Amino acid sequence: MYEIDLDKIDLTGHPPDKEPERQYYFMAKCREYVQRLNEKWGHPPTYTTVTFGCQMNSKDSEKLSGILEIAGFIPSESEEATLVIYNTCTVRENANTKVYGRIGYLGSLKKKHPEMIIALCGCMMQEEQVVEKIKKSYPFVDIIFGTHNIFRLAELLYQRLLKKKRVIELWENTDQIVEELPSEIKYSFKAGVNIMFGCNNFCSYCIVPYVRGRERSRRMEDILDEVKRLTDQGIIEVMLLGQNVNSYGKTLQDPITFAKLLQQVEQIEKIKRIRFMTSHPKDLSDELIEVMKNSKKICRHLHLPVQSGSTRILQQMNRKYTKEDYLHLVERIRDAIPDISLTTDIIVGFPGETEQDFEETLDIVRRVCYDSAYTFLYSKRSGTPAAQLKEQIEPQIAKERFQRLLKVIQETSSERLKKLTGTIQQVLVEEQNTQQSGYLTGRLDNNLLVHFLGEKSLIGQLHNVKLTECKGFYYFGELNY
Ligand code: SAH
Ligand code: SF4
Ligand code: F3S
Repeated sequence: MYEIDLDKIDLTGHPPDKEPERQYYFMAKCREYVQRLNEKWGHPPTYTTVTFGCQMNSKDSEKLSGILEIAGFIPSESEEATLVIYNTCTVRENANTKVYGRIGYLGSLKKKHPEMIIALCGCMMQEEQVVEKIKKSYPFVDIIFGTHNIFRLAELLYQRLLKKKRVIELWENTDQIVEELPSEIKYSFKAGVNIMFGCNNFCSYCIVPYVRGRERSRRMEDILDEVKRLTDQGIIEVMLLGQNVNSYGKTLQDPITFAKLLQQVEQIEKIKRIRFMTSHPKDLSDELIEVMKNSKKICRHLHLPVQSGSTRILQQMNRKYTKEDYLHLVERIRDAIPDISLTTDIIVGFPGETEQDFEETLDIVRRVCYDSAYTFLYSKRSGTPAAQLKEQIEPQIAKERFQRLLKVIQETSSERLKKLTGTIQQVLVEEQNTQQSGYLTGRLDNNLLVHFLGEKSLIGQLHNVKLTECKGFYYFGELNY
């Protein structure tokens, strides 16, 4: 976390216009309020953040926590906290439904604790119809904000504390990147770092470009500064985050490639492992393959969402590559880095998907032989071009295809994963195993987990583990000194 002396901020005058100074001013204002509550109640107010969706959202929640802890709120695991923030996701309909169900539950908690403050933010809030529905059906929600103004939490919270009225602030888009705000980190040894925000790809099924705005890259110096600061706190593994990391740097004043950024991060001595998410196949360069091949720190893992194996559907999805392009790319990657682990995302039941198109997806899965794959039933998102397509697939057919796909993925990936049994792999020891006492859980380069006997003191360190047994998507192993 950043060391800022809130006591030095003059709270008698107007708030500064410049960011992040303005937000520190409001953090200090909130802290005064928190101190008053503390005196009144005999204990400080608490907060909890509940995060839905992807790693971008998890990272955003860490920023929310950073702001609240500076303001004096105490973290709580319980949703009976003074301030509850839901950081929402809207990538698929079920992500949405989940959130509505739980807001209802929050309403019942608030009846018991009238002083409770409920805040909603994140991707769902960037949709007009969602905000309308919340205003109408969930009047007990206190603060609504979106993805672009997440850094303004302190200011919005202060408005709510002061006026006791609902605060709604939504920005349609932004070109701003506010640096130097606080952020909590969940683990003491690994952390995510945003390298870019937004997305310009407009895959025809996807809502992300509408709710996260246009692509903006952070300046390389800012990223490297953050990574260095994280190493001072003990971080040894970083995950570089972006919706399409392969197009990092293209829009910067001094354009730079993602591969170059990786090389710079690798120079930071205390960083031992580098991961990144997500790679769009259309922008994966030979330069990146070369850098990965020669790197000692970049994990031998690529998450390379294919979405479909049918060139016809890929075109409808606006993915800008064909089945052959993708297979050729995989060949180039595997030629350069034979032991690389490949994972993917696949959508089943995209509008107009025929049995033949689906067979192409099964075929690509068999040919690439992924280490694992995330599979999704197509979900219609209003406002996206695919939602207009007439030939929406019958849910029954989509579900049946989904099951067939799962079976093929299980067969092909278990083939690959079994091959690692007996090998010695470097793992980052992450936690104690909650199921089996005495066991630790570590993460392999390929992002899979291994459980093995070991002392708690090893947590946060890299160790060699011999994989003794493959259990589907995880392993058992033994420490190998
Ligand atoms: N930027 C990343 C993906 C972000 S969303 C990329 O391009 O790879 C994560 C995954 O959700 C996508 O890869 C896709 O498989 C899935 N997804 C996105 N929109 C979807 C929709 N409308 N229905 C079903 N799955 C969807
Ligand atoms: Fe969505 Fe495509 Fe952007 Fe990924 S690249 S976030 S799937 S629009
Ligand atoms: Fe969901 Fe937003 Fe991520 S829609 S998947 S939380 S970018």
